[in-house]
Amino acid sequence: MLKVKLKKTVDESYEIIVEAGLSKRIPALLVRRYPASRYVIIADRITEKLIGKKLESGLRAKGMQTLLLVVPGGERSKSREEKARIEDLMLKAGCDRKSLVIAVGGGVVGDLAGFVAATYMRGIRYVQVPTTMLAMVDSAIGGKTGIDTALGKNLIGAFCQPEAVLADPALLRALPARQLANGLVEAAKMFMTSDARGFSYLKKHLSSALSGNPEVLARIIARAVAVKAAVVSADEKEGGKRMVLNFGHTIGHALEKLSGYRILHGEAVALGILVEGRMAMNAGALSRTDYDAIQNLLAALGTHPKILSRFAPSAVVRATKGDKKSVGGHARYVLLTGIGSVKKSGGAYAHAAPDREVLKALRATI
Ligand SMILES: NC(=O)c1ccc[n+]([C@@H]2O[C@H](COP(=O)([O-])OP(=O)(O)OC[C@H]3O[C@@H](n4cnc5c(N)ncnc54)[C@H](O)[C@@H]3O)[C@@H](O)[C@H]2O)c1
Repeated sequence: MLKVKLKKTVDESYEIIVEAGLSKRIPALLVRRYPASRYVIIADRITEKLIGKKLESGLRAKGMQTLLLVVPGGERSKSREEKARIEDLMLKAGCDRKSLVIAVGGGVVGDLAGFVAATYMRGIRYVQVPTTMLAMVDSAIGGKTGIDTALGKNLIGAFCQPEAVLADPALLRALPARQLANGLVEAAKMFMTSDARGFSYLKKHLSSALSGNPEVLARIIARAVAVKAAVVSADEKEGGKRMVLNFGHTIGHALEKLSGYRILHGEAVALGILVEGRMAMNAGALSRTDYDAIQNLLAALGTHPKILSRFAPSAVVRATKGDKKSVGGHARYVLLTGIGSVKKSGGAYAHAAPDREVLKALRATI
């Protein structure tokens, strides 16, 4: 018998730049630091107009070969069909292993373009240029890429780290208010689990953030990214610490699923935070004062607990059992012990909870 011995030690570190006005410098930055035989810009219909075309002409002006590919946009673009269509266009255009994919858009484009890069000719490099708040604080960082199928969201994909994440908060000026709040919930979630000072900053500057002030947004994004980057560095593939990013998501995912994905991810997570935060409070881990501070911040971000009354608590509990992160049919929950800290026991950051505790918290939150 022969054994193929393969021990991987690869350095997949990458840089994240968050800077208001960065977009103008991106072509020069790409050419200098990420040389490629061709730059494949993947955008959706909105981000193509917002920055995709400018990026293309900036790269061409520097004598670079480019290919601009546009997907319709929206969750439906995260499909096998769209992935195959892009791959075929890249093959026909002669893109090779030295081509570099640039994902220009929100989480939809980022997840799809990242997955294309992960498998094109067994993997080519890619850069994330996130354009939504959610993508800047969350989806562009961490290397999770993938698509949806009729049987569920994000079920097919790959861990594939980008070469760089280049975020320009000035682009968020064009983002609808609902989408901005949607992303701010994810930033708030990072602060609730891991950065009490970030939480205070967000609370204090919330109205500037909501009005799109790029400097304030840049600080919020940089702090949230620091939390996510630290967690991902400690645990790339979700064995332990990465679970803290899941705070609010066990209930949040169940609500998204039950609503047929009609409520935005951030809105579902905000409701999930209220329920899972209450579970922590009921367990004596989280103080009433901290819970109230969380509730007030989420209310200012447009979260209405009343929306929960649309869902039967027993149906929500049932839906949590199918969660990707459940173990042996038991959903697990991240429990806050205060703003900026979570419960850790037996090396685990997420804990099973009896159905009656979940039901109690659901009923009390409405
Ligand atoms: N990979 C991860 O770790 C991760 C984490 C969280 C979420 N996600 C995924 O992210 C996706 C959601 O991402 P999203 O919320 O960014 O949605 P999205 O990508 O659909 O973008 C929302 C809308 O905003 C538009 N848009 C983008 N940038 C804009 C701008 N600057 N101005 C105006 N409009 C703009 C888009 O065209 C789209 O219509 C989901 O598919 C989710 O599964 C992935």
